[in-house]
Amino acid sequence: MARAIVHTELGSPDVLRLVEVPDPVAGPGEVVVRIEAAGVNPIDAKQRSGIRPLPPIVEPRRVGFDGAGVITQLGDGVTGLGVGDRVAIHDTRGTYATALAVPVRNLARLSDGVTTAEGASIGIPAGTAYQSLRSLHVRKGDTLLVHAGSGAVGQAAVQFAVLWGARVVATASPERHDQVRALGGIPVAYGDGLIDRVREAAPDGVTVALDCAGTDEAIRTSLELVADRERIATIVRGPDAADFGIRAFSGGSPVPLTDEEKGWRSEAVPLTINLIEAGDFQVELGPELPLAEAAHAHELIEQHAAYGKIVLVP
Ligand SMILES: NC(=O)c1ccc[n+]([C@@H]2O[C@H](COP(=O)([O-])OP(=O)(O)OC[C@H]3O[C@@H](n4cnc5c(N)ncnc54)[C@H](OP(=O)(O)O)[C@@H]3O)[C@@H](O)[C@H]2O)c1
Repeated sequence: MARAIVHTELGSPDVLRLVEVPDPVAGPGEVVVRIEAAGVNPIDAKQRSGIRPLPPIVEPRRVGFDGAGVITQLGDGVTGLGVGDRVAIHDTRGTYATALAVPVRNLARLSDGVTTAEGASIGIPAGTAYQSLRSLHVRKGDTLLVHAGSGAVGQAAVQFAVLWGARVVATASPERHDQVRALGGIPVAYGDGLIDRVREAAPDGVTVALDCAGTDEAIRTSLELVADRERIATIVRGPDAADFGIRAFSGGSPVPLTDEEKGWRSEAVPLTINLIEAGDFQVELGPELPLAEAAHAHELIEQHAAYGKIVLVP
């Protein structure tokens, strides 16, 4: 039997349970991956608690979208991958588990220079950052403001934008400024006086903004500093982004991602693996917890009580 984290009701982290589940079988176009690490993302906790509503739970709901591990079984029609290959998994429900059947379109091969924990930390953070910056047409000559630049998505956004030649100002708490600086961003503290601090850090102005914080302050600051509202986006305030006249990419937005945007999210995974391998992109890793401690991982992420990406290890 495999083991997986499930929940049958919405609620606090203690609704998560580790249970035995049938061993997965690879269907056509799928492989079975023995999971060695699952990345923990805020959306996992939001869906568990019901903050981001889903259709009612009709059978035990599996958790987790990002992961990494080793292929143990190939389904019909799978070519170009083999048993024993290391892969990163993205956009596949149920990665908090010991094994999972995954469509090959949701896999990217992991190179030797990329650790399993790094591989499990790429899908949602790098995918969201890359797609958001592509959608906002971030390019050389831009000055980008990233709210929550010290978080997983924010750090990815800082790095992509710097690689593309933009100047990046990123908000973070003061103890996280060195981390933002190490990635090439100009850190500013969030909180009272943010607008003045950003103006000081970017005297020539801000041309584009990405909100990964979701606070009123972040929205207000972007509206004040960026002239073109088409170049302001949030990944958190989807439900009310339209009220501010700004864009939203998921995050509860009633407007779904376009096929092109979904394509960018997938494309980001192998691209990020290559950047890590080349030493041009960093993933900040946080605590590694046993799979059985998924509830504790959710407490940590909800309370912002750990720096770096938390991964669960079966
Ligand atoms: N729409 C989408 O598709 C999508 C995809 C991924 C994530 N998200 C959402 O985006 C958000 C960030 O995700 P993540 O994975 O990057 O989270 P994370 O790694 O847990 O980072 C959280 C960040 O929030 C910052 N923060 C905390 N309080 C803040 C405040 N008052 N003002 C400004 N920043 C504050 C933290 O900064 P310090 O640590 O420096 O204090 C940290 O950088 C979450 O709400 C998540 O659900 C949406």
